Amino acid sequence: MGEEVRPIGRLDAGAFMTLVLDLRHRRLPSACSATRPGWTTCFQEAYARAFRALPSFRSGGAASMWLSRIVYNTCLACSWGSRFAATRGVVEPVVRLYGALAPWFHLLTRPSDYADEAAHIVRLLEAAVDGPAETLLELGSGGGNNASHVKSRFNCTLTDISPAMLALSRSLNPECEHIEGDMRTLRLGRTFDAVLIHDAVMYLTAEEDLGTAIETAAAHLRAGGVALFIPDATRETLELRTSHGGHDGEDGRSLRYLEWITDPHPDDTTYDVDFVIALRERDEPLRLVHDHHVLGVFADSTWRELMQAAGLELLEVEVDDPEEGEHVVFVARQPK
Ligand SMILES: C[S@@+](CC[C@H](N)C(=O)[O-])C[C@H]1O[C@@H](n2cnc3c(N)ncnc32)[C@H](O)[C@@H]1O
Repeated sequence: MGEEVRPIGRLDAGAFMTLVLDLRHRRLPSACSATRPGWTTCFQEAYARAFRALPSFRSGGAASMWLSRIVYNTCLACSWGSRFAATRGVVEPVVRLYGALAPWFHLLTRPSDYADEAAHIVRLLEAAVDGPAETLLELGSGGGNNASHVKSRFNCTLTDISPAMLALSRSLNPECEHIEGDMRTLRLGRTFDAVLIHDAVMYLTAEEDLGTAIETAAAHLRAGGVALFIPDATRETLELRTSHGGHDGEDGRSLRYLEWITDPHPDDTTYDVDFVIALRERDEPLRLVHDHHVLGVFADSTWRELMQAAGLELLEVEVDDPEEGEHVVFVARQPK
């Protein structure tokens, strides 16, 4: 038993251990790998923290469901923390939106809201690909919102660094192949007719990382295949603003958020997005979460130079864009 757990066990050792043993076997192994270094400590500390937060707990009582949820979320956040601590320059500090809060993502941004943009993606690809347009690889596919529309036209392979987001996407897109991977290093050893990198690219905060992600796209394109890069903004188009939104689910859950974009250091390649997220589950009290994201932003010229450095040929494709001015689209082809 870890240091933090011992004093709690002394207070009500029986109830605490019953809960640990009961829930350990039921819920957590599917979410957190027991082989990950530091996982046991994280697991025990999560129980200790949750147990303290619920003084009325007696095993089997109503509070045990709450306790299991707190522990489950803490362990997911912990497994994400160790994953990202081992890498450099991505999703730092750890964002909860793609970890513990991943099951809520479709209430923050709804798959049906992506229909117009996905149709535009398909039109661009059809116009730009030289040869067949059948297979598509998405790097950073998130909740699979875009893919839920694009999959009717392309055979999609969806990749993301977050296992929790892949699980969510699988529930929406069970017919698509899903693979865990970092867009900077992924190498599948096969090529596609199209590669898509949408808003996930915003989590790359260093020019070197952006360059390696563009190389990943190039490495997965057949000759004549096309990559679409759709960042939320370039340095030239970045708008500092606040917005709000959210949705009601059919399962009794609701989410509302406030998104606040700031740029404390306009001379560097990052900016900040703070989310204040309110979560409601049936009759339970409203929960508030603050999630701080550090995103990357690069000049239009940097994007173009990196695409050329990766051997891609930049294209100007003329198709109607229903979201013109709201996003940036770079189209680049693998030369034949
Ligand atoms: C806003 S979500 C993408 C949503 C997506 N456009 C959709 O249609 O649902 C951003 C995603 O980027 C992923 N991500 C961040 N850094 C990544 C990296 N280096 N490689 C792969 N995925 C990454 C996160 O895990 C998250 O799922």
